[in-house]
Amino acid sequence: MLHLRYDKAKCRSLVVSLLGMTLRSVASCVTPVAAVKGAEVTTIEGLSVDGTHPLQRAWEQVDVPQCGYCQAGQLMSAAALLKKTPNPTDADIDAAMNGNLCRCGTYLRIREAIHLAASMTPTPATQAGRARVGASKR
Ligand code: FES
Repeated sequence: MLHLRYDKAKCRSLVVSLLGMTLRSVASCVTPVAAVKGAEVTTIEGLSVDGTHPLQRAWEQVDVPQCGYCQAGQLMSAAALLKKTPNPTDADIDAAMNGNLCRCGTYLRIREAIHLAASMTPTPATQAGRARVGASKR
């Protein structure tokens, strides 16, 4: 009998970016909403609605995904990295992406795509997929 076990926060496939006092990416599967009150939360949909974010374009150009399972988390971690470090080295990328597991082994294409995205001119990002936690809508 095959038993599949999910270890919370082990793969970082469910990563969102938080913009509050500091920008950071967190594993959303183990982060309670109360812990992010007041922070701006960006999901994968928040990169851009039309696929024009440099990371989305680079991901497509390099043909990064294989099965796709890990890709949302990979992209969000990469986005947080590029906000902090616009021109990362291989070592910067490896350190920032450490813990984002890809069972398909797309790590080299991910690194290539991050370098490519860093060299692209950013387009204005849309606000879709972003929300300030704890803010009321009026
Ligand atoms: S593309 Fe399959 S797990 Fe990463």
